[in-house]
Parts: sequence; structure tokens; C-alpha cells
Amino acid sequence: MTRTPVGILISGGGSNKVELVRSMPDDRPGTPKLVLSNRTGAKGLERARSVGVPAACVDHRGRSKVDFEGELAQHLNAAGIEVLCLAGFMRLLSAEFVARWEGRILNIHPSLLPLFKGLDTHARALAEGVAVHGCTVHEVTAALDAGPIRDQAVVRVLAGDTPEVLADRVLAMEHQLYHAILRAWLNDPNCLVSLLDA
Ligand code: GRF
Repeated sequence: MTRTPVGILISGGGSNKVELVRSMPDDRPGTPKLVLSNRTGAKGLERARSVGVPAACVDHRGRSKVDFEGELAQHLNAAGIEVLCLAGFMRLLSAEFVARWEGRILNIHPSLLPLFKGLDTHARALAEGVAVHGCTVHEVTAALDAGPIRDQAVVRVLAGDTPEVLADRVLAMEHQLYHAILRAWLNDPNCLVSLLDA
């Protein structure tokens, strides 16, 4: 089986990254080849190395976006990455960078897009009084959190939810959704899969 080399970009703990890596044993269409973090000391780098995935920090601070993205690209090219997954990666990528990965770059966002693009999604969902919230896997385009939606998972908002409690429930759904969509996508990038049909 030809296995697609997958790169993962993180900024923090990288729990989505952990689930993605775990979901790619030898009989799967993808193989995790590289984890990059824009933050020094991101816990996720250690976790990646501990399961044998090369990991590096590309610090975004004190340099231009062009320079930062140039170094990201060097790492990705050197590792032969073909598909890129953003997993809790908190930098906006330039239109030029994204264009080079068009159709090969996914993100997970903690809301039911197009609702609540950007930050603080759980607090904003609670403030709006929505009855359901959730997460979205989408392709990345130059516009923030606006690329084609590949799938979504829904969680009910419960009485007494705080942003933190709601975030935990959504994160648990993210962990189920992202790898399922990635796997289906690697098998057939044109497919539209849904956990609802599974
Ligand atoms: C997740 O909700 C992710 O979607 C968001 O940050 C949270 C933590 O992600 N961007 P992770 O544990 O770093 O993967």
C-alpha cells in the first residue's frame, strides 16, 4: 500500500495531533512523518518524539511571515510531506502558503462553521444561547475558517455548561472526527464522508 506522508502543525498540547498519529498504524493510507510547532516548548513536540515521529519547532517570533513560512516549507519539503493537517495551530497562514497546499491541507475548528470563526468559540456559543455546538473539519483556504467543510460533529449544550466544560466535550468529538475524515480523505480526496453514515 502506498502511504501518504502526513505533516501536522501544532501550537500547544497537540491532543488532536496525538489522536491523528495514533490513527495511522501500518495498515492505514497515511503515515505521520513530521510534527512542527510554532511555539518553543510545545508539549506536543515531546509527545510526538516519544512515539517516534520527528518533531521540530519553527518559532514565528521576531521574523516576517515570509521568513517563518519559508522555514516551515523547508521542513515539510525535506520530509516529503504531501498532506498537511493543522491541529490546534494558532497562526494564520498566508494566501501564498495556502495556495501551495490547495486541496491537501485540513484544519479542525472547535465550532459548527460557519458559526463562530476565530477564537473563544465556546464562550461565544454559550453567550449566543445555542442549543448545539460542535466541531468542523474543513479544507484550509486563505480566508479564516472558511474553506470547504468536510464534516462536522455536534454536541448538545447542557444547562450549567461553562466554556471549559463545553470545550472538553467538543474536544472529545474532535478526537473522533479528525482522524476519520483524514483517513477517508486519503483514500479518496473527492469523497464526502460523514460519521453520521458510519
Ligand atoms: C482544540 O479545540 C482545537 O480545535 C483548538 O485548540 C484546542 C486544543 O487542541 N484550536 P489541541 O489539544 O492542541 O489539539
